Amino acid sequence: MKIVVIGGNRLIGRKLVNRLRASGNDAVAASPASGVDVLTGAGLAEVLKGAQVVVDVTNSPSFEDAAVLNFFQTSARNLLPAEAAAGVGHHVALSVVGADRLPESGYMRAKIAQEKAIKAATVPYTMDELARRFLSAKRDPREVSTDVNVRYYGTEVDDRSLTPGENPRIAPTRLEDWLSHS
Ligand SMILES: NC(=O)c1ccc[n+]([C@@H]2O[C@H](COP(=O)([O-])OP(=O)(O)OC[C@H]3O[C@@H](n4cnc5c(N)ncnc54)[C@H](OP(=O)(O)O)[C@@H]3O)[C@@H](O)[C@H]2O)c1
Repeated sequence: MKIVVIGGNRLIGRKLVNRLRASGNDAVAASPASGVDVLTGAGLAEVLKGAQVVVDVTNSPSFEDAAVLNFFQTSARNLLPAEAAAGVGHHVALSVVGADRLPESGYMRAKIAQEKAIKAATVPYTMDELARRFLSAKRDPREVSTDVNVRYYGTEVDDRSLTPGENPRIAPTRLEDWLSHS
């Protein structure tokens, strides 16, 4: 299956592309470095030809409020119609757990804007959410210290932030099981 990973050359995208290839998929990493730009639309039509799935793991180069909002809104405005035109069957995007409960953060507002644009488009979608129990599952020896006053993407968080809320959707695979196989 041809799967285009937009933002496929960096932190999350690179790992994803490697795993998709290892499982036999034709995974294509796309980013400005390979001539594909979601802000201008350059290269999108070409790279999406024949793709069944698109995974969007792009990120804004600037986290300044207006810049990050513009990045996620403009990229969705260019990417989703290009996918529809190319006949892409599914759009996958990586969101942030609890972003809707952190409206003081410009970054989280931008992620919500991205989610809204995806929901409003015609391409079927999945928005994955990343939990953060990564260090202990990876047996990372670094000590974790906490400070309730530290801001996360410019906003205060508490023990209800970045969690799935009152009615979580429970999947059969637990994060720790998944991490232990990755
Ligand atoms: N990292 C986390 O812990 C985390 C947690 C939850 C959610 N997420 C979400 O996951 C996504 C990816 O995060 P990340 O940490 O992997 O980001 P990252 O390492 O900064 O990678 C961002 C990617 O976006 C590409 N990109 C930037 N501008 C672009 C443009 N105009 N057109 C096309 N591609 C462009 C970059 O291309 P180049 O390689 O050419 O520079 C890069 O490959 C983000 O949407 C983020 O909100 C991340």
